[in-house]
Amino acid sequence: MTERWLDSIEARARDVLPELVHRYFAQGARGGVSAAEAAAAWEGLRVAPRVLQDVTDPVLGTSMLGTAVTLPLGMAPTTLQRMAHPDGELAVARAVAEAGSLMVVSSNAGTTFAEIGTTGAAWWLQAYLPQDRSIAEPLLARAVEAGARAVVLTVDTPVVGTKYDDGPTIWEGLDPGMLRANFDPAYDDLPGSGKALDLGPADIDWIQKHTGLPVVVKGVLRPDDARRCVQAGAAAIWVSNHGGRQLDRTVSTVAALPDIVSSVGRAAEVYVDGGVRSGLDLVLATALGATAAFVGRPVLWALALDGQFGVATLLESFRTELTEAMRLSGAASLADTPGLVPMSVQTGVDLRKRPV
Ligand SMILES: Cc1cc2nc3c(=O)[nH]c(=O)nc-3n(C[C@H](O)[C@H](O)[C@H](O)COP(=O)(O)O)c2cc1C
Repeated sequence: MTERWLDSIEARARDVLPELVHRYFAQGARGGVSAAEAAAAWEGLRVAPRVLQDVTDPVLGTSMLGTAVTLPLGMAPTTLQRMAHPDGELAVARAVAEAGSLMVVSSNAGTTFAEIGTTGAAWWLQAYLPQDRSIAEPLLARAVEAGARAVVLTVDTPVVGTKYDDGPTIWEGLDPGMLRANFDPAYDDLPGSGKALDLGPADIDWIQKHTGLPVVVKGVLRPDDARRCVQAGAAAIWVSNHGGRQLDRTVSTVAALPDIVSSVGRAAEVYVDGGVRSGLDLVLATALGATAAFVGRPVLWALALDGQFGVATLLESFRTELTEAMRLSGAASLADTPGLVPMSVQTGVDLRKRPV
């Protein structure tokens, strides 16, 4: 075998991206501890495979808030996709439509929702809410009109986590066309347009009522918060530390996931992201009770390498690896994965005692 494609994409993307762009995509907040340890947390889990199972044709598909997907993997929202490739979100959407996956479009996207809607991709809007909630209404309405199927409320960013940049940052001299194509031009001048510092459970209900769409809460790391979100009407909880770009040295999403799944039960779907880099990671995520996982940076590397075709290759690589990992784990479908991970090497916690 030659080098694994997924292992080489960041290094290859680094060769083709301007240094500032690569740094912006790769960086974590502050000391970069959470960003650096995310993938290792998945590597800290061990599988107890089943044998004597019929794994002729593993079923990889699942459903995410009623949307059928062909594998338990979605594309996480990331800002500045058009700096990775001129087609940006449009390239991701086309690859996602072809593969039967799902993408979450950042509210900062440089592509209009209407253009994304024309691709036929299943997509959700990611939103931050402003201090004056009513200012968000036009953006939400545009997303609904263009066919968004859910709204992902990111709750881990009351302020943007500090990054240390040596020299100029990507924001200096940035082409404004790369960013925020779905906002009114005068948005930033409106009083109350800054990020809300007072988000609360009522905002979940507010979004649901204004859009008629299910609300996913992204950036949850505690079971008590997950329960509060569900009580407030969240349809899904997204376990995330923003790829280590907000508070540094948070618990890893791998460590947080099992207790959140237990606390939510069947009341909501649970997703996870952060360092998901292989088909085996998808088996592990579903084994710990997630409905699906999301990837952020790998999409940016794939986009940088070959636009739509890079993202298609990314999805195909995950599909091939997931098929092999399920066969070797003795899982005929994703419903067979719970129980495959008896313990976390990282934490020493016996996961068999947890109802997943
Ligand atoms: C360059 C970059 C930009 C991001 N922009 C957003 C964003 O606009 N909204 C958001 O909710 N999350 C954003 N995220 C976080 C991702 O959605 C996701 O949580 C994270 O990247 C997952 O970790 P991974 O990159 O290790 O897969 C961003 C992440 C990166 C790397």
